[in-house]
Amino acid sequence: IHQLANQHVAAEDLLVSPLWRAEEAALPKPIEIYGHLHGELRLNSQGMDMTYIAERSPALEAALALRVQTPEEIQVEDVDPLMHALHAGQTRWDAVPVERRAEILTQAADLLEARQDKLLALIMREAHKTLADAVAELREAVDFCRYYAIQAKALMRKEALPGPTGETNSLSLRGRGVFVCISPWNFPLAIFAGQVVAALVTGNSVAAKPAEQTMAIARAFVELLWEAGVPRDVLALMPGAGETVGAALVGHPLTGGVVFTGSTGVARHIHQDLAAKEGPIVPLIAETGGINAMIVDSTALAEQVVDAVVASAFRSAGQRCSALRLLCVQEECAEEILTMLKGAMQELVIGPTIHYATDVGPVIDAEAQTNILAQIARVEQGGGRLLARCAWPPALLENAQVTDNSVALTMQDDQQRNLYFVAPCAYAITHVSQVREEIFGPVLQVVTWKAGQVDALVDAINALGFGLTLGVQTRIDGRAAHIAARSRCGNVYVNRNMIGAVVGVQPFGGEGLSGTGPKAGGPHYLLRMVAEQAVSINT
Ligand code: NAD
Ligand code: ALA
Repeated sequence: IHQLANQHVAAEDLLVSPLWRAEEAALPKPIEIYGHLHGELRLNSQGMDMTYIAERSPALEAALALRVQTPEEIQVEDVDPLMHALHAGQTRWDAVPVERRAEILTQAADLLEARQDKLLALIMREAHKTLADAVAELREAVDFCRYYAIQAKALMRKEALPGPTGETNSLSLRGRGVFVCISPWNFPLAIFAGQVVAALVTGNSVAAKPAEQTMAIARAFVELLWEAGVPRDVLALMPGAGETVGAALVGHPLTGGVVFTGSTGVARHIHQDLAAKEGPIVPLIAETGGINAMIVDSTALAEQVVDAVVASAFRSAGQRCSALRLLCVQEECAEEILTMLKGAMQELVIGPTIHYATDVGPVIDAEAQTNILAQIARVEQGGGRLLARCAWPPALLENAQVTDNSVALTMQDDQQRNLYFVAPCAYAITHVSQVREEIFGPVLQVVTWKAGQVDALVDAINALGFGLTLGVQTRIDGRAAHIAARSRCGNVYVNRNMIGAVVGVQPFGGEGLSGTGPKAGGPHYLLRMVAEQAVSINT
């Protein structure tokens, strides 16, 4: 890989996965390589980064022409019989050796790769992701399957515990029962897959409740798992509304655990519902939102900062929990960085994600567009001053509805479905504490800070109560480590962007209002999904 740096290479020559590289090649830093796709890869001078240059395959084009078929929703009254079936299935599944369960996950990873064109097209159509984002999502799902398969085999081995009692002591782990997996629309394959396969490989059966907006992707993955060998009475797809079907699953007496990824507000509801439900006391893994900041000091490299800001704040139309929401720039370099940022924002191409040149696609639906507009209005009412806003490409303005102030645009795609856009924008505010809520879209707020006040800045960010991602841009020895130690954030990224955690090497998840942990794609995740039993035999 190092030899290939700065060269263009055929994708087919690079059939490696991030996990293989991290574990076997002992590289200084993981590189995302999507070697299974048609196209070309470019590695940077240290072999540490990659630009994927897509060359769309005929199979992907054909899949993109298909319409998304949304599965029928289930109703609350369907929940109870499905939960009883899953409960019965779990006992048999838990008795299946972990090696076999892991083998099924590996088979699922192979199927994901084999079906990539259809899945990428589905992600691009149903979740409005760009090809690059869809590829990253597919790779993450593959990595979750392979990583949790490896982890489970190591974790679930029965362990002898020799000691001074004179007895034979051992510790074994098993599934807890029926795990309810509730996922968001913004990573409709990767997060859905990560939750479901982690619960399955540890011996649980799974009631999988995807987000309403992305149920077709969820169905495709569930069908793929059935095909790989997961029995149907061990995994059920529960497409339905969160407030009804989701709440009924959480409150069901047979629920043995819940893994939830979504908004902080819904996580609180689930916490309350779990506390009130009949049946066993069960664990909750909740991964929620963030008001994520990036601290930039005057020693940072301006080009690198702007590149990282644009990727972190506007890629995926800002619809990532990890996305940058609050840029904190030291006064001395603010003018240079903000001027450069404005220029970079004008280069962003907004458009439908099925167009290869698109950098920023639409937000997920009309409700999201309305919410983001209301939040932008609140920023303005609170004194926020517009610094920059991306312009609409002329091609997009034809046949589109644009709001008076040009913040939002709605148009139909080639399949006559509405696409709801919000123009990426940046607002200057005066203090960190003005940021009151997560804006789940392409909206950046910017504050400046004075030399000597970095600790106060970190404390102010901590005081927001969230703790998901933090970016640091500095060339001062020891400063990044100092900031990381003072910060209450789960993932700290130094001199790079702050999105796209890689499974197994960048375990992902926050604290405080951002979630309970343990981190997804990390070594402690599976432990929350198992029950432990110690057996002591007086021999
Ligand atoms: P959401 O909270 O609205 O919905 C998430 C899921 O919860 C959906 O499947 C929904 O149907 C379900 N749900 C809603 N009400 C429910 C209830 N009362 N009981 C049970 N289930 C219920 O979130 P969203 O809009 O789908 O996703 C965006 C949010 O997710 C953002 O806040 C983002 O930051 C967060 N997120 C966090 C992470 C992370 O890893 N920390 C990752 C992705 C997204
Ligand atoms: N794991 C996703 C990221 O890091 C949310 O961007």
